Amino acid sequence: MNIYTYDVVIIGAGLAGLSAAIEIKKAGLKTCVITKLHPLRSHSGAAQGGINAALSEANTKAHEFDTIKGGDYLGDQDAIETLCEKAPETIRRLERMGAVFSRNEDGSIAQRAFGGQSEPRACYAKDRTGLTCLQTIYEQADRLGVEFVEEWFAGDLLYDPLKRKAYGVAAMKLATSEIAIFNAKATLFATGGYARCYAINSNAHANTGDGLSLFLRKGLPLEDMEFVQFHPSGLAGSGILISEAARGEGGKLYNALNERFMEKYAPEKLELAPRDVVSRAIEREINEGRGAGEDKDFIWLDLTHLGKEIILNKLPELFDLAKSFLGLDMSVDRIPIRATAHYSMGGIPTDNFCRVKASIGEIASGLYAAGECACVSVHGANRLGANSLLEAAVFGKIAGETIVSDAPKLELIRAEESDADTLLKETQKLLRSNGEQSVASLRAELQNSMTKNAGVFRDRDSLEKQAELINDLRRRFSRVRLSDKSAIFNTELQEALELGHMLDYSAVIVAGALSRKESRGGHYRTDFTQRNDDGFLRHTFGYLCDRGETRLEYSPVTIGDYKPQERKY
Ligand code: FUM
Repeated sequence: MNIYTYDVVIIGAGLAGLSAAIEIKKAGLKTCVITKLHPLRSHSGAAQGGINAALSEANTKAHEFDTIKGGDYLGDQDAIETLCEKAPETIRRLERMGAVFSRNEDGSIAQRAFGGQSEPRACYAKDRTGLTCLQTIYEQADRLGVEFVEEWFAGDLLYDPLKRKAYGVAAMKLATSEIAIFNAKATLFATGGYARCYAINSNAHANTGDGLSLFLRKGLPLEDMEFVQFHPSGLAGSGILISEAARGEGGKLYNALNERFMEKYAPEKLELAPRDVVSRAIEREINEGRGAGEDKDFIWLDLTHLGKEIILNKLPELFDLAKSFLGLDMSVDRIPIRATAHYSMGGIPTDNFCRVKASIGEIASGLYAAGECACVSVHGANRLGANSLLEAAVFGKIAGETIVSDAPKLELIRAEESDADTLLKETQKLLRSNGEQSVASLRAELQNSMTKNAGVFRDRDSLEKQAELINDLRRRFSRVRLSDKSAIFNTELQEALELGHMLDYSAVIVAGALSRKESRGGHYRTDFTQRNDDGFLRHTFGYLCDRGETRLEYSPVTIGDYKPQERKY
């Protein structure tokens, strides 16, 4: 058994993990980035439309207010202030590193409109903004000599619950199934989102939220997991992302009756209302029989009035997606879309410096989280489009800086071979199990039922049904049978580990949603259709107990200058 020792291990090589790695490497700490994919396949690269910044600093307050209102007042306003204040310098930093943003005629950085914003604020690189940022930052990390441990799967968090101290991870090499320990003074999770627990989603196959489950299994909480974002425009059928940039550039939505239905739901902002509002409008049109197509199950996105030149110049990726997946030419054809699970507002609770909360009011030592897997919380109940790349870049860098300043005070708990036992036993049990259940069918059942029962609309009955189903799936998962028993690139074993993780945090999503008897942002209860600040202006902390039971606690929201108001668009 190999035990590798570092000052810092980072799990995840997207924009947040790499931003942290650069700071840590520059400070001369010994660090590695463990990633189950090649870094350039990280999901940050899939963010298409933009990264927000009030490039004229005078407008930072408007960015803050839009973010707070967009998040239905559940975001912590001190964290949002940090996010927005650091946005302009973040764009300049990325640009200096080499990110080529699209420009205006006068050479200034172009910015486009996005949902829920009071002015065009999304800086972009055509419709490949995330990929541009990711490639740039990866180049810089590589140039600095950051060590990458690629295609290793972090399967257990090394954590001493008495000291509330993390000391690395146990991980499995995907090529050989070798298990090793990565022992460190500081451990940073930047493992991305979890929308893959839904059937219709815009996420990469890798977005199975592994990091979140590792925390739950150590008795650590997750925050606000009931808030899952459904992006309005996934390609109908597959859920593949059709960027909000399409609506930012002037795209319009029509139902089967050729009505521009957003006039009813958001008379002022129309298609550029926040995502929760537009997604609900789309699903409502479909549920009420005004969906298009033979099965009345999609909505039309119309870009034809933009003309081919603008589409090819500003939205080339979307043009290719519609062509490749549906054989449609968006300059002449309308595109069928519907809401798709896209983003996780909830996650690992941290303070504003990315230190993980071991419980409400208590910080874990040597443990950090940043990016989509974390909940700082800057997005509250609903994220504004183009704030996610920003969060990853801003808080990834902050995580790196915090670790550098904490490092001299952190002790190293020396790992022993037995620290790998949990992961070893888990993999061996999966390989030896001779039950009758298959990973693929259990996963499909979880995903389909999450979409149906804990999706855009939920109510008590659907959530109770889902909670029961997850318990049943968990029981059946203990009787899973892998057909591949080999050690070499055993993707079925990896998928089984991932499914175990998905079952863990899905239980917490559902428990949080069941207890939150109100509608706020991305969480809409058809049996409690109003926001209820008296009862629920608070963060949910969800724990996983023995046998899949959940336990919830609540903590207050940090309100600053902006008192909660009714949200109108
Ligand atoms: O629609 C989009 O381009 C997605 C961007 C985001 O989620 O921020």
